[in-house]
Amino acid sequence: MKGLILSGGKGTRLYPLTYTRAKQLIPVANEPVLFRVIRAIHDAGISEIGVVTGDTDAEIRAAVGDGSRWGVRATFIPQERPAGLAHAVKISQDFLGDDRFVMFLGDNVIQGGISALIEQFAHSDWNSQIVLTRVPDPQHFGVAELNGDGSIKRLIEKPARPPSDLALVGIYMFDASVFAAVQAIEPSQRGELEITDAIQWLLTQGYGVHAYVHTGWWIDTGKPLDMLSANEHVLDEIAPEVAANAEVAADSEVGRHVTLQPGARIRNSTVRGPSIIGENTVIENAYVGPYTSIYHDCTLTNCEIEHSIVLEGSQISGVPTRIVDSMIGRNAIVGRTVRKPKALKMNLGDYSNFWLP
Ligand code: G1P
Repeated sequence: MKGLILSGGKGTRLYPLTYTRAKQLIPVANEPVLFRVIRAIHDAGISEIGVVTGDTDAEIRAAVGDGSRWGVRATFIPQERPAGLAHAVKISQDFLGDDRFVMFLGDNVIQGGISALIEQFAHSDWNSQIVLTRVPDPQHFGVAELNGDGSIKRLIEKPARPPSDLALVGIYMFDASVFAAVQAIEPSQRGELEITDAIQWLLTQGYGVHAYVHTGWWIDTGKPLDMLSANEHVLDEIAPEVAANAEVAADSEVGRHVTLQPGARIRNSTVRGPSIIGENTVIENAYVGPYTSIYHDCTLTNCEIEHSIVLEGSQISGVPTRIVDSMIGRNAIVGRTVRKPKALKMNLGDYSNFWLP
């Protein structure tokens, strides 16, 4: 079996962070979402992975390399324009050949334990397996209507009036019959070849499509709030680890559910878990509260932060109000000026947002 990860798209809802970085590379619990996806596929026993890329092709290639870091072989498949998930399958046919495969959206974060599902498909005689989960806003997803026995009645992409609350999760399994489906369908109203339509075509033609209903959490990380809730879930799930060379000064308090990565230094501070402090990051005279991920090479002094994500190389110092529910990009500076005028000074990127208490 092979893996196909979709890692294109502009990530407009995550501006300004995604002006300068592919959305799949934004870290959750200090690991880029795309890397979690690669690990999940590897855990299912798959070592051949195709990565479909878009505008951020160079960045994705640089980050993933040849895949050997995860024990996989990565092949990059550039998609000229975002023409849909079914189009991505179409252009990957040479790579996929006749193998069964799992297609995973590179910005989806799902609760662990799906490798058994993928392995089950590898040995089944189904032509396809889809993953469904109940959501409060099904109109924003592909939606499935099931029969009483759990078989699939029909699938519709983003229906105005959803027939159920069962959304298609961004994990799909196929055999080579999908290539006929992606050839047969027409672009949708948004001008894309929809994978939902391709699977509906398989159903109509009498192919075997099995629906699995996932009951754990699943997040499609489109917006900043989604990133923060994915961060919460992953921090809850990971086993805390304290690197041998991480330093905690005697005057500090570090909770049980805190991960300290190599070279992290905590001085005169309180760090409450679940949270993670990245490599060579310094926390001094500060409070880091639950559900916070501070990435590598950051400095936090004289400040308080909670339920937030800070990317690498950023500095936060002397902020008198606690920072919450925030996403702070790379090499950002949040500080306090001593010079007059005593006023707010900012240098915000396009589409940034800044909220006063
Ligand atoms: C895509 C699919 C949709 C699916 C969703 C899962 O939507 O078209 O059926 O439910 O991924 O994340 P998109 O993100 O392209 O709007």
